[in-house]
Amino acid sequence: MADLLIKNAGQIVTCDPLLFDSSDDGGRSIGLVDGGGILVSDGRIQAVGDVGDRPSLGTGALEVLDASGMVVLPGLVDCHTHTVFAGTREKEYEMRISGASYMEIAEQGGGINSTVAQVRRASEEELVNTALPRLRSMLRSGTTTVEVKSGYGLDLDNEIKMLRAIAKVGEAQPIDVIPTFLGAHEFPPEYRDARDRYVALVLDEMIPAVCEEGLAEFCDVFCEQGVYTAEQARSILERGKDHGLKPMIHADEFAESGAAEIAAEVGAVCAGHLGFASEDGLTAMKRAGTVAVLLPGVGFGLAKPRFADAGRMLDLGLDVALATDFNPGSSMVNSLLIISSLACSFMKMTPSEAVLGMTRHAARAVGREDSVGSLSPGKNADLVVFRVPDFRYIPYHLGGDIVEAVIKGGKVVFNSAQERPRKSRTSSPEAG
Ligand code: NIG
Ligand code: FE
Repeated sequence: MADLLIKNAGQIVTCDPLLFDSSDDGGRSIGLVDGGGILVSDGRIQAVGDVGDRPSLGTGALEVLDASGMVVLPGLVDCHTHTVFAGTREKEYEMRISGASYMEIAEQGGGINSTVAQVRRASEEELVNTALPRLRSMLRSGTTTVEVKSGYGLDLDNEIKMLRAIAKVGEAQPIDVIPTFLGAHEFPPEYRDARDRYVALVLDEMIPAVCEEGLAEFCDVFCEQGVYTAEQARSILERGKDHGLKPMIHADEFAESGAAEIAAEVGAVCAGHLGFASEDGLTAMKRAGTVAVLLPGVGFGLAKPRFADAGRMLDLGLDVALATDFNPGSSMVNSLLIISSLACSFMKMTPSEAVLGMTRHAARAVGREDSVGSLSPGKNADLVVFRVPDFRYIPYHLGGDIVEAVIKGGKVVFNSAQERPRKSRTSSPEAG
């Protein structure tokens, strides 16, 4: 029985080029359907395109959403974030504006370890309560699936506390939350001079305990000069695999560290950052099917605009996903829409590539391509309706208030019309 009909859409961006006509830039089709509707039943997409005006399928109430002149996309997937944290680091931002580097700040006791100190002092409940408004804000910009990493506890109890908070955040609001264990995000101060002992703790205590409680789906490592070496990353990701955790990696953010190669070697589902990844590493990632996750919010947040070579990765045939990397240190941005603007202007991705990066490819980066990231019959009815005339408007309007509605599992979970005072209601995108 159908329970939701979206009708009269100006464009439906299915992100499924196999099922829907490709009418867009060469080989990187977004599966654009010009005009039509989407029929949803039992939380899943039943039909896309010409679905009629008010199909008489079943007897239950059919909710109808008129998307006249609007654009429908799959719910956005934010495939790399650190959304659960305590405290903020605006003073570090000011230091970077004045020329200090991210790594210098970290060496002086700031950086990840300053958030670790605050997370260790916070209760699980405080972590949940500070995260929930962030998730609400993400939902309002179209995100319906988000990956969230631990990595600010850096000891057994605090990593477990973070992961339990991440699980509660997932239960308490509509966005699907995918939990990642990132015990190897930094070396905590008490192990700075005993790094092997900390790696042993991650391998022998944290990974088994996290898996025993079923608290994570992925395992991640910050593989970078001065942080985790390629060898350490390999052993942690392999141990995670032994316990059923799928590997992903923070790779070659500030220097070529052999991390892209490790990503390919361990069969990582995705690798993030990649600003300094070697050509060999990228080629190996392509062979291994590892998704490249680009995080242009970091170029902005570090006040040192240097962006990964998206064009090269696309030319190599890699699937290129985009994510916010939302965190209090390097990327204090939780809107994928802003990320799409940065990706287009600074990494020269086309609007089509950016759209695929936030949907289809991002879903693959978190192993969810069978259920989300594209609109075809059988997929989850996770949808975003944009108050824009064309999908290219999405990256064009930096920070625009352009989301009309968000649907998660067939239910309308955000509807901007209900939040606007009636008089100012308008369908013009310039309203944002
Ligand atoms: O992906 N680079 C490592 N981790 C995060 C930053 C975390 C932080 O500074 O708190 C990142 O950019
Ligand atoms: Fe990150």
